[in-house]
Amino acid sequence: MTDLTTSSDARFDAFSLTLNELDDAKLQAFGDDAIAWVATASTPQDLQTIRVALTGKKSHLTTWSKQLGTLDADAKKTVGGWLHALRTRIQTALDDAQKQLAAQALAAKLASEAIDITLPARGQSVGNLHPITQTAERMQAFFLQAGFEVATGPEVESDYYNFEALNIPSHHPARAMHDTFYFDASYVLRTHTSSVQIRTMEQGNLPIRIICPGRVYRNDSDQTHSPMFHQLEGLYVSESTNFAELKGLIDAFLQAFFGRKLHIRFRPSYFPFTEPSAEVDIWAEGDAASGKGGRWLEVMGCGMVHPQVLKNCGIDPSRYQGFAFGMGIERFAMLYYGVQDLRLFFQNDVRFLKQFA
Ligand code: PHE
Repeated sequence: MTDLTTSSDARFDAFSLTLNELDDAKLQAFGDDAIAWVATASTPQDLQTIRVALTGKKSHLTTWSKQLGTLDADAKKTVGGWLHALRTRIQTALDDAQKQLAAQALAAKLASEAIDITLPARGQSVGNLHPITQTAERMQAFFLQAGFEVATGPEVESDYYNFEALNIPSHHPARAMHDTFYFDASYVLRTHTSSVQIRTMEQGNLPIRIICPGRVYRNDSDQTHSPMFHQLEGLYVSESTNFAELKGLIDAFLQAFFGRKLHIRFRPSYFPFTEPSAEVDIWAEGDAASGKGGRWLEVMGCGMVHPQVLKNCGIDPSRYQGFAFGMGIERFAMLYYGVQDLRLFFQNDVRFLKQFA
């Protein structure tokens, strides 16, 4: 649009007439020009400038209206009628144009903000079970198939169930190995799931064949230890349970869990609540690339339930015997997935967890 301040005058120069010089035809022509001009407005700002030029204080229309008082009554009526019709005509054109521009602006805004439905969707991410949960479930699945049932017990445990009944009196050196969190003299956060053995044996429903998965707590934290971790305990008590069965079961479990033939060894060890006791190691092949030699990795403790522990639970050791085993679920998860730092399991970084989907 051209500069309105000059062109508005220039455009209507022909109409710089006095009232006496005006007639209906001239005013019609003026109206036609005015409306043609209104039609050129392409923005609300343009239109506002045109509105002021056509109907404002300095416009021809206003000037003429002011001069009406100089006419005699008849002429005033006639010319006044023309001017009124002219003003109405121009104002209607301006109002219509304003509505049209507003509608155009809205349509343009809607078009520019329209949702592009051709874009591919972002997709939804589905969660997955935590690797520790997956590992615990795989471990349990084997024992459930072998006829074991799941038993649970409290994580805040009495000194009696966590230690005493398991043949670990307060002066016993084994207590030092447990890094126990104490509530007071008689309550602790359980340091192992072996307390559930005692609770189950006390109920006396023999034979007993249970696994006890659950959280345990020790005041220990580094690359391979977390103050909270998970164990899976097993207990089998009957009139005929023996060490050969224990070996066979553990052997079958380890092969099933790792899904391959393994070298396994039972290494004599000591736990106050089992006799004899053993620790189970699996052979990890060396890796020529990293220059690592093969080595034995300890994966669980086990043994025949100590006769005193059976007695503590009201079970006659001359008639019944049992075996027990206990292992850390995180350790199995680390070995199975090749995770080097235990703490990754508990930082819950989604980028880590998603790899186990
Ligand atoms: N409770 C032992 C531990 O936490 C593991 C174990 C369980 C050993 C059962 C023997 C029998 O280290």
